[in-house]
Amino acid sequence: MNNRKADEQAGDLFDRSASYERYVPWQPRLAREIPFLESKLRSVNAKEVLDCACGPGRHAVALAQKGFKIVGLDASSEMLMRAASHAGDESVELELVEGRFETLPPSFAGRFDALICLGNSLSAAGDPAVIEEVVRQFAFALRPGGVAITQTVDFSVAAREPVTASPAKHVCDDHGESLFVKSFVRVGKQVFIHWVSLEKSDGEWRSDVTLREITVVEPRFLQEAFSRSGFSSVESYGAYSGSAFEPGSSRDLILVARREGR
Ligand SMILES: C[S@@+](CC[C@H](N)C(=O)[O-])C[C@H]1O[C@@H](n2cnc3c(N)ncnc32)[C@H](O)[C@@H]1O
Repeated sequence: MNNRKADEQAGDLFDRSASYERYVPWQPRLAREIPFLESKLRSVNAKEVLDCACGPGRHAVALAQKGFKIVGLDASSEMLMRAASHAGDESVELELVEGRFETLPPSFAGRFDALICLGNSLSAAGDPAVIEEVVRQFAFALRPGGVAITQTVDFSVAAREPVTASPAKHVCDDHGESLFVKSFVRVGKQVFIHWVSLEKSDGEWRSDVTLREITVVEPRFLQEAFSRSGFSSVESYGAYSGSAFEPGSSRDLILVARREGR
């Protein structure tokens, strides 16, 4: 995928930030993820943390509430507006930067004790060469001994089966009633996210269907990309409980990589 296509896709996510916020069950998700993240951040005595592709900033806010100084970076101004609004609601300070994880600002050089890149965001990179560049940028932004934590889905099934559908999600909230269905669709070597949302408004159901190519993140490729970019140890987990990664049955692929030095 070329950069223009990747830009269009960030645009797609930007248009659907409202649906993303409603689709994700934030409370259970954060309850599951934050303890793991906090313990890994404390293990390197992290003070300043970069949330790369922070989206609507839910992790950024939760970690700021734990006392970390958080910078959130995202390609979508719409997502960043949501992050600013949540930070305001919770009275925490976030520094929010519009930018791309494959070209971090020069002022980030060696600045961070830790970074997180969650929610399968690396699969939006476009192709493996861009993921390799993103990992180099992670090394650039971390101080020696700093830690990078990435989470992508376990693609072992999606890369093999023609269609992998998640259970439909029924949401009833202040915005009304909606039904969301997310699937991975494989065509040859390409994998797409197929997203259907049905939203009821004034008694009428409106549908929104999108198909977006994603990059399959291969566990070994990502681990080796970290090693090639100057990370000395790379731990892998299959869930935020800290269980081992088992291709095909793990919920997630979580890597915790330590930048060489100190
Ligand atoms: C699925 S959301 C994940 C958001 C959040 N990290 C989470 O875990 O909920 C993916 C995010 O990646 C962002 N994104 C996609 N491509 C990007 C890029 N090249 N640089 C920075 N952000 C990007 C999108 O704008 C979107 O907010």
